[in-house]
Amino acid sequence: MIVTVDGPAAAGKGTLSQSLAQKYELAYFDTGMVYRAVGVMMLRSGRDLSDVPYAEKLAEELTFAKMMEISSDKEFRSARGGQAASIVSSYPGVRRRLLDMQKKFALKPTFADGRAAQGVIYDGRDTGTVICPTADVKFFITATSEVRARRRFSEFKERGIDTDFETVLRDVEARDERDANRKDAPMKPAEDAYILDTSNLSIDEVFKKAVAIIEGTVK
Ligand code: DC
Repeated sequence: MIVTVDGPAAAGKGTLSQSLAQKYELAYFDTGMVYRAVGVMMLRSGRDLSDVPYAEKLAEELTFAKMMEISSDKEFRSARGGQAASIVSSYPGVRRRLLDMQKKFALKPTFADGRAAQGVIYDGRDTGTVICPTADVKFFITATSEVRARRRFSEFKERGIDTDFETVLRDVEARDERDANRKDAPMKPAEDAYILDTSNLSIDEVFKKAVAIIEGTVK
């Protein structure tokens, strides 16, 4: 079974995807990681984030193993890493070079420990539209920017990252703006996606709704 979970930043895609992966024993691919990896490598290199040819070169050379290694960098999940990821993800040449790696995962999905899996939960804003348009079930998870910023702010606080709510809100809005206007991959639900607005739902309620949809769709 292949399930895609698309939607804007901090809408709850990761939480839902991981719970679904656990329930159905499927591999999990957080596709934002490919852009975070390129973004962090740009930051490490000290080059300007506007250096498109260099970002393309890094994308071309990225492997799954390298991405996993870079994911332990302290900037990987930081606001700065997220900004860098968002910027490099707006370069069509970077996206193109990262397509294959994401698409191929569905052909031979594996768990983090290398065991083969029977399917995959793809998490990322274009997974239902671009990465896997033939997925069995597609979700588009959304919430107001205020709610999403509040969730991200709590996450940062839990991880000891020093920031304030206004900064996080501005960051969420700036990312929405950039992501919505991307010409090659504007953020929009696939025509056959189930749209879940999580603004007034608990994590458990979102999970239960998604499970009900999957079980009503995949026999
Ligand atoms: O989901 P995330 O915050 O880890 O994503 C980081 C950035 O990567 C985000 O601003 C946009 C980009 N991204 C993308 O363009 N396409 C995806 N499928 C996933 C993430």
